[in-house]
Parts: sequence; C-alpha cells; structure tokens
Amino acid sequence: MARHVLVAGGAGFIGSLTAQALLDRGDRVTIVDDLSTGSKDVIPQGAAFHEASIGDEVAMTTLLSSADIDACICFAGFIAAGESMSDPGKYFVNNVGATTVLLEALAKAQVQQFVFSSSAAVYGEPLFTPMTETHPTAPTSVYGETKLMVERVLSWMASRGAMRYVALRYFNAAGALEGHREAHQPETHLIPLALAAAKGERPALQVFGTDYPTPDGTCIRDYIHVSDLARAHLAALDVLASGTTELVCNLGTSQGYSVREVISAIEEVTGLSVPHELTSRRPGDPAELVASCDLARDVLGWVPTRSALHDIIRDAWHASSGTTN
Ligand SMILES: NC(=O)c1ccc[n+]([C@@H]2O[C@H](COP(=O)([O-])OP(=O)(O)OC[C@H]3O[C@@H](n4cnc5c(N)ncnc54)[C@H](O)[C@@H]3O)[C@@H](O)[C@H]2O)c1
Repeated sequence: MARHVLVAGGAGFIGSLTAQALLDRGDRVTIVDDLSTGSKDVIPQGAAFHEASIGDEVAMTTLLSSADIDACICFAGFIAAGESMSDPGKYFVNNVGATTVLLEALAKAQVQQFVFSSSAAVYGEPLFTPMTETHPTAPTSVYGETKLMVERVLSWMASRGAMRYVALRYFNAAGALEGHREAHQPETHLIPLALAAAKGERPALQVFGTDYPTPDGTCIRDYIHVSDLARAHLAALDVLASGTTELVCNLGTSQGYSVREVISAIEEVTGLSVPHELTSRRPGDPAELVASCDLARDVLGWVPTRSALHDIIRDAWHASSGTTN
C-alpha cells in the first residue's frame, strides 16, 4: 500500500537516496531539511520539499496539519563524532532537542510510525564483536550519546503509546548510487577523504591512531553500502505498518576492515596511491565497530547485497569521477 512518508534530512546523503527508493516503489515523499549540511541538488524529483528545521515547532506543526503523513523517517542531524567532542552543545541541541520537537509534533498529529537514524556510536568500546543489539551501550563520543538519548526518548514514548518506532543503528555508511555520493560538509569519512587525497584534491589523508588493539593498530569499521541502507528503511516502514511497536536493529555486514585495509583496497580499485600521514588517536573513536546483523535478517528480512568493500569503493570512485554506477 502506498504511503506518504515525511523524510527529515532528505537533502543529505542517506536521506536523499532513501527518498528516491520510496518514490521508486510508489510512496509519496515530503522532505523537510534545513540545508545546514544538505543540498537542494540531491532532492529527488517527485518529492515535495520544505526548508525548515525539525526543531521549529511551528513549522513542524503547520506542515503536519497540512499534509496527510503516514510515517516519518528521520535522518536529520549532525554527524561528525570528532566535532561533537569539541562542540558538544551544538550536538545536544540539534540531535536531541530538535528531534524531540519533531517527535512531539508527530505524536500530536497522530503520526505514530517513526524510523530513526541511529548509529553504532551508541555502543562505545566493544566488549565482544560482532556486536549484537544487546551489547551494552556506553558511547565514547557526544555524537553517540545524542543517538542513545533519542533512542531512550523513543522507548519512553513507545511505552506510553505515543509512538511506534524502529531505530536503525548504522555502522559506516559508504558507497554511492546513481552518481550520488557522500559529500558531507565538512567531509569526515574515510573513503571519500581517501579518494580525494588519491586524486590530489585534498592534502594527505590523516590516519588517526596506529596503536589501537587491532591487528595492524588502526581502527576497524564495518562499511555498509548506502543502497543497502535505503532498502532497510523500506523494510522498517513495512514492519511498523504491520504493527511492530519497538525495534532497535543494527545495519552492517558483520565484516570489519582496518583503516590500512581500506587504503589498500582503494589503491587496488583506483590504481592510485593514497597519500597519508599517521597521526595520534582522535578522542571518541572506539577501536573496533563491527555489527552482528542477525536481527536485521530475521526481523526485517534484510541482508546487504552491495556491501563488499571493493564494490563500495568502486561505486564511490565512479561517482567521484563523474561516471555513474
Ligand atoms: N553516514 C554515516 O556513516 C552514518 C552512520 C550512522 C548514522 N548516521 C546517521 O544518519 C543520518 C544521515 O546521515 P548522512 O550521512 O546522510 O548525513 P548528511 O549530513 O548528509 O544528512 C543530514 C541531513 O540532515 C539535515 N539536517 C541537520 N539538522 C537538521 C535539522 N535540525 N532540521 C532539518 N534538517 C536537518 C542536513 O541539512 C542534511 O541534509 C544522520 O542522522 C547520521 O547521524 C550516519
């Protein structure tokens, strides 16, 4: 059944591609984004667009009273864990405060199906790996704390019957689709930074920390293709439509790669060397984040299909060179 979905943060990387996937399957899409880090250029054709902050109570109430929204997916937020450690208030105000304003407006408008962009950053240092959703949560960054706080708001709202939700804990979103690639402002993610360094568009890549308790000393992360992420959001809406009250679910591949391994894979795919310099650890970075994806498979019926590391890099490389994947 076609639905009308409010996509908050739909002018960003993952939100715009998920909005496109919703339109492709016949849903209606309204995007709300304040363009603080997003761009109008990536908003898909066919989506309605409102330029506003989700923290603007009047704007959210007005929007929800004028549109027959069935469900909301919220991608809106600031995403740089490093910045969150030097400017914590900015992250609490936007990621927790503004999201809570949106949730309250949705609840008042009786829109009670909500999919939230959470993060592996809620876990902190791994006690075991791959991490299941039952792994203790002890964020090592303000960013991770803000995601966990919203999950707790959602859990309380669900327990009071005010909201039903799926919180998707993405590991590292990457790749590109139909020419749309990561272009965060500023970019802080490894693969786009390394590709730009390889092309000479940026200075040498900084590798933060070579003394982590990992086989080669650099951080290990689990990279997930943005097209696989987009599909998971459609599945999350489907489980909410069929009555799910509350679900917290990892999205990753169960396979981790170190920073050095990613650099080597980029060099193999592009045939270019990635100039890089080894620097000290950055506050807030756990040594290793790798997802157990059993719950997503069992409950959402979701398995990644495009997230082999070389495929992710190839798609990102083609998009950054102007040749679409
Ligand atoms: N990219 C990743 O690897 C990753 C991993 C885990 C979780 N996440 C989460 O996924 C979501 C999307 O990430 P992304 O990579 O697409 O980031 P992005 O920066 O490309 O997109 C975020 C969008 O939200 C908008 N926005 C920010 N604050 C807003 C507000 N108050 N009101 C309205 N719009 C607002 C921005 O303008 C931008 O368009 C974020 O919440 C992020 O924390 C991302």
